[in-house]
Amino acid sequence: MTDTSYPVPAAFAAKANLTPADYKTLYDRSISDRDGFFAEQAKRVQWMTAPTHVGSWSFDSPVKIEWYKDGVLNVTESCLDRHLDARGDKVAIIFEGDEPGDSTTYTYTELHREVCRFANVLRDRGAKKGDRITIYMPMIPEAAFAMLACARIGAVHSVVFGGFSPDALAGRIVDCDSTLVITADEGVRGGRKVPLKVNADAACEIAAKAGVTVKTQLVVQRTGATIAWQTGRDIWLHEATKTVVDDCDPEPMSAEDPLFILYTSGSTGQPKGVLHTCGGYLVWAAMTHDYVFDLKEDDVYWCAADVGWVTGHTYIVYGPLANGTTTVMFEGVPTYPDASRFWQVCDDHQVSLFYTAPTAIRALMREGDGPVTATSRKSLRLLGTVGEPINPEAWDWYFNVIGETRCPIIDTWWQTETGGAMIVPLPGTVDMKPGAGTFPMFGVEPALVDAEGQTLHGTAEGNLILKTSWPGQMRTVYGDHARFEQTYFSTYPGNYFTGDGARRDADGTIWITGRVDDVINVSGHRMGTAEVESALGSHPAVAESAVVGFPHDIKGQGIYAYVTIIAGVDATDELRRDLVKHVRKEIGPIASPDMIQFSSGLPKTRSGKIMRRILRKIAANEYGNLGDTSTLADPSVVEALIDGRAIL
Ligand code: WT7
Repeated sequence: MTDTSYPVPAAFAAKANLTPADYKTLYDRSISDRDGFFAEQAKRVQWMTAPTHVGSWSFDSPVKIEWYKDGVLNVTESCLDRHLDARGDKVAIIFEGDEPGDSTTYTYTELHREVCRFANVLRDRGAKKGDRITIYMPMIPEAAFAMLACARIGAVHSVVFGGFSPDALAGRIVDCDSTLVITADEGVRGGRKVPLKVNADAACEIAAKAGVTVKTQLVVQRTGATIAWQTGRDIWLHEATKTVVDDCDPEPMSAEDPLFILYTSGSTGQPKGVLHTCGGYLVWAAMTHDYVFDLKEDDVYWCAADVGWVTGHTYIVYGPLANGTTTVMFEGVPTYPDASRFWQVCDDHQVSLFYTAPTAIRALMREGDGPVTATSRKSLRLLGTVGEPINPEAWDWYFNVIGETRCPIIDTWWQTETGGAMIVPLPGTVDMKPGAGTFPMFGVEPALVDAEGQTLHGTAEGNLILKTSWPGQMRTVYGDHARFEQTYFSTYPGNYFTGDGARRDADGTIWITGRVDDVINVSGHRMGTAEVESALGSHPAVAESAVVGFPHDIKGQGIYAYVTIIAGVDATDELRRDLVKHVRKEIGPIASPDMIQFSSGLPKTRSGKIMRRILRKIAANEYGNLGDTSTLADPSVVEALIDGRAIL
């Protein structure tokens, strides 16, 4: 990690919304007069009843977090209705399909109508405030309509990424007891079809066996493929909308009523349902989207994430729409039809603010400068990154080749749990250092601690905690508040533990170094080692497995699985392929192991605990420095693993 710093490009800084002095004033105020600061920020959203309370929380057991608790609102009024007068004809969503040339736009007036009609369809099917609705969709405008339609009627959406398998989808349907599913006939990505309805049908069957019967599947027609149909349960969106009106009264919601659940992986067990509520989340989404992207009225903004992840929730849908921005939704992938696609789309739609993950930058960097320089990119003025630490090489390429040194690189550190950006070099306020999140967002109080919880001051490296609450903080794990407390507040009592490590340099700049728990960051997506192990363990040939992350050129981290097979089964390449296939079926392609090493034993302590530290070193090819191995029950296991690694 280099500590070279780069000033914000002068032409950008001259027009930036914030100066370095503004950052300091606003940050200091956000800490010294938190309630005053966040009472003002609350005015960014439209309330039916304005809140008189601001923040009230306890990070000690029983953990309880509330913001704006007596406020009443419907988030869709902020995202839609209030723009109708001044921005009715402004484009709200630019849809860019998988095939170049397949593009449509929706103005705020049109979006309002689509959402209301969609919401009326949901109401016609009996959906109401508090119901959980699962959305399993491709990246098409209807995914955003669906989310907003749920919010309109007060239903809680749970968006499941379209790359998850039927088993993974079913698990999420069952966990939140969701009897209405919104899906599409098929998705299209990189020229390939994704059988969403087939998967959703299979998930419904699995869910039914676990006691949750999906009563309605609302199906969007994307490709026109022939699909199986269950009359009574399945309905086409385009048919159902024929009989509904264009207006739909927004459901009044308490600020602390749930807005959505989003499942994310942790270090133990199955994914947990991160729950966000209406008021604080929307204030945080609107505020951070404005500050992080130096937002101006005529910007065309493109976050190239998927709505299946929190980035898509906060920075494709809720933040941009609350701010009346023109937001691009892209159905495809960065390399289809070729590696110019991102920049071609920027040219076609005159994108000024662009936001993606380091993994995409690395994948494109590999294709060389040619596909980039074939495009203009003159409309771009700011480039953002999210999801994982960005390596200096990728940062340099993003800055020099993509942005031609014109655009600041805004490296945003945050998590599904935080709702929005938390540690960010706010554009124009601070010199950039490749790989550094730099300084906290307003109201955010990070600290570094050692394993015992002692606060580390000055230049230091340790675990990253957050000492106080912010409006966008998750409120609970759906249906399991004890797990919420245990996961985030038990390691460093009285503080929120992020699960990340970080270091601080002599200037006070913060660098996120990566997860310190058993979570792997694959291409900017979180994967729990326990989940992959449980998928492997359900294969009949597997006796035991241990999964760790290892450095991967494109993905950041790859998935490395050590597998012990049962006696009598042969360790063949065919079995390896079958294991990968099995994990894809259980979870989805994003969980595919990149490396499988068959091992006759795993390194364990005398009490039987797997020593993952050693497994991580071997996976990374760092045999020289295995650390303390004195607690190993059987040291010969490690030698065998090293020999096995060498021949892979
Ligand atoms: C984890 C959260 C934030 C939305 C997308 C991922 C890692 C995220 C950065 C960054 C270094 C980062 C952390 C974090 N992470 N952004 N800019 N620099 N690391 O959300 O799936 O909840 O994952 O992603 O390890 O804990 P998520």
